[in-house]
Amino acid sequence: MMSIRSLAGACLSAFAALGAFAVPASAQNYPTRTITMIVPFAAGGPTDVISRIVTAHIAQTLGQSIVIENVVGAGGTTATTRAARAANDGYTLVTGHMGTHAASVPLYPKLAYHPEKDFEPVALLAGTPILILARKDFPPKDLKEFIAYVKANAEKVNAAHAGIGSVSHASCELLNSILDIKPVGVPFNGTGPAMNALVAGQVDYMCDQIVNAVPQINAGTIKAYAVATPERNPSLPNVPTTTEAGLPAFQAQAWNAIFAPKGTSPAIIATLNAAAIKALDDENVRKRLLELGSVIPASANRTPEALATLVKNEIAKWTPVLKPAT
Ligand code: MLT
Repeated sequence: MMSIRSLAGACLSAFAALGAFAVPASAQNYPTRTITMIVPFAAGGPTDVISRIVTAHIAQTLGQSIVIENVVGAGGTTATTRAARAANDGYTLVTGHMGTHAASVPLYPKLAYHPEKDFEPVALLAGTPILILARKDFPPKDLKEFIAYVKANAEKVNAAHAGIGSVSHASCELLNSILDIKPVGVPFNGTGPAMNALVAGQVDYMCDQIVNAVPQINAGTIKAYAVATPERNPSLPNVPTTTEAGLPAFQAQAWNAIFAPKGTSPAIIATLNAAAIKALDDENVRKRLLELGSVIPASANRTPEALATLVKNEIAKWTPVLKPAT
């Protein structure tokens, strides 16, 4: 028969053990102050626009402001490195994407972070189909003429992108390798500024995420030859798919997602993930994302585990496609 003293001792050690699984006080009432969301590209580009639409709703849910900080350079890897090194207290997050958390791995042999080892996946925000775009007065009328033209003028044409390893760079690297051309690359701090140059006719073409192109296509200020997905996008019913336009080999869809520094507590990740999911179910958020051509993640793709799998699969997919930067 256990004595009262030893029974009390057993209870105390049980409570002590349970205490090890208790949520840290810092996570229990998280967030208690402003959160910084790093966007690795210039304001006005696809990652900035998607991040602002979703984090505005997340901020409402959490009852704390979220400040967007645009940190540019090196195809988004400068900012992503900074985010990887930030305190893992839930107050510094980054909106990464197929470039920062996949394409950069093969393109930067000395990348200062690893997308899988140095981050906690929080939530996928939006899939972003890629379009082949050109300045309004670029001579080719359709994709077939575009292919012939850029092959015949390979040393003269130029392609805008947001830096080595960015989505616009990686997806046009795929296109250029399919067409076996090496155009001059014109880097910008994001495809927001790159789109301004395209509209101004200062660059010839670009592979960009749909959310950046829809307003310009609808305004008639640029040309869209095709969308690189199996189906046409509801926001651009008149833009053919690459398959319809004669280049089925070019399939490309990027994505944007929230990441936190490695070691951020599971309770904080769960709080942020729940708020992101709530934003993706909000009708106004959905309306704005959908009218820009985004693909809103299905429920099964909204968990941190699903994002971790996506990052792993995307690194595996893009590594054989892209050559290390020379
Ligand atoms: C941006 O927001 O500027 C783009 O995501 C950059 C890119 O092409 O990766």
